[in-house]
Amino acid sequence: MKEPRLTNISACVFDAYGTLFDVNSVAHGAADMLGDRWQALSDLWRSKQLQYTWLRGLAGHHADFWQVTGDALDYAMASLSIDDPALRERLMQLYLSIAAYPEVPAMLSTLKARGLKLAILSNGSPAMLAAAVANSGIDTHFDAVISVEEVRVFKPHPDVYALAPQRLGVPKEGICFLSSNGWDAFSAKAFGFKVLWCNRFGQAPERIPAMPDGEIADLSVLPERIGA
Ligand code: LAC
Repeated sequence: MKEPRLTNISACVFDAYGTLFDVNSVAHGAADMLGDRWQALSDLWRSKQLQYTWLRGLAGHHADFWQVTGDALDYAMASLSIDDPALRERLMQLYLSIAAYPEVPAMLSTLKARGLKLAILSNGSPAMLAAAVANSGIDTHFDAVISVEEVRVFKPHPDVYALAPQRLGVPKEGICFLSSNGWDAFSAKAFGFKVLWCNRFGQAPERIPAMPDGEIADLSVLPERIGA
């Protein structure tokens, strides 16, 4: 069955980590040093990184995503009994050259050619996001690369999602938000965006407000899901 298209969309706003960029590519890039522990480190690093964003948000202890990412890496390395400052430094540097998923550049070009505004809205610090988009050669595709640092609180605080309509001059109903992080997709829908959940890993639906408008397996099909 053909999936319905979202209509009256003027802009697509993308989550960064996990959605445009493959967070597993970071630890995989140091697999020569990590051996078969790279996946365990990657999973623990990512889950702690997200937990720390939520914990800092609830406690009112904001620190930027670079610090949170480093703290989470320290936790993950300690948990796996890896004590190697040079490896830590290498992994943090690899985070700045994180790989985009393969379908991303062509998908962005297609949407841009159709006149849609394109933006990133991410927990990432401005420097992290600038490095990531430049490394993948997709920096010229975006009308805005928006960091939560403008409001100094992490997703899913509604003040973060409110940055996109403000910056793009598009009402929230005219924005299609894309995230592979289920909690981010559901929270963005609760804020009032149109949302397609890019469910790359076939995860179960979250039990939080609110259900996204649709689901896609990767971003290659996104242009087909945006109508006139
Ligand atoms: C981001 C996190 C959620 O890019 O991956 O905002």
